[in-house]
Amino acid sequence: MNLSFKTGDELILFLILVILVIFAIVILFVVFGIFRTLKQVDAQRSGKVIEAFSFNAWWKGLTGAVPLEKEEVILLNHNYDGIRELDNHLPPWWKYLFYATIVFSVIYMLDYHVWASSPLQEEEYTQEVAVAQKQIEEFQAKNANSIDEKTVKLLASDAKVVAKGKEIFTGKCVACHGAAGEGGVGPNLTDEYWLHGGTINDIFKTIKNGVPEKGMIAWKATLKPNEIQDVANYIVSIKGTNPPNAKAPQGDKVAADSTATK
Ligand code: HEC
Repeated sequence: MNLSFKTGDELILFLILVILVIFAIVILFVVFGIFRTLKQVDAQRSGKVIEAFSFNAWWKGLTGAVPLEKEEVILLNHNYDGIRELDNHLPPWWKYLFYATIVFSVIYMLDYHVWASSPLQEEEYTQEVAVAQKQIEEFQAKNANSIDEKTVKLLASDAKVVAKGKEIFTGKCVACHGAAGEGGVGPNLTDEYWLHGGTINDIFKTIKNGVPEKGMIAWKATLKPNEIQDVANYIVSIKGTNPPNAKAPQGDKVAADSTATK
């Protein structure tokens, strides 16, 4: 059981549950007491004496064990090379437990499958994932603005980041850089030549601040920092893909391994 309460309401619900359980136990004892009294009255009427409650008698009732001296009664007729078998009944405690599981199963079925008042595992999982997703979004929204050209991360091998970056690229960049980054108005982004540097930090900076005098827009007003990070990683990921109709190289050649973060 997970006993970490996130809200006061949960704590109150739990306390109510505890009180209900205690209440049920008390009622059980009261009913048991009434039952015993009735039995005593009945015994007195018919002249029998009923012994006071004894733990031993109660325990014996629960285990249903037959005393050694009465074993003859339950001894079976078989005799396997001298090994003989007793016909013991299932112990009552075991049977009570079994009955309890039947009662439990009825309550369980009504709760989960008939009234559907508690979520099934899969539903519970989806709910928790939804909550976690919301927390992730809130966290990212809070932290998105803290990414800049110095803290941008190289995540080009993260398929999710690249997919998001590709989406942004397709929506906002293809007009000038080509559908596959092969270049057009803007330079080829898949070759090893860069006008403004080819590290993830350089690429982030170029996208963020743009090169307005040369026709490359500053995207910081349109894209959130984490979106710039995504699209920068997408650009890193398409390096060396040699798309058709590639624009001739512009700028300086940047060694392949310098794409890594500083
Ligand atoms: C209106 C056309 C246009 C659009 C739209 C555009 N770019 Fe550019 N981009 C350019 C031009 C032109 C350059 C070259 C600037 C220069 O000559 O210095 C450039 C340069 C770049 C560079 C630097 C390349 C290098 O060699 O250093 C990167 C990176 C880049 N763009 C990414 C993007 C991304 C990402 C988007 C979409 C969010 C985008 N661009 C949208 C026109 C555009």
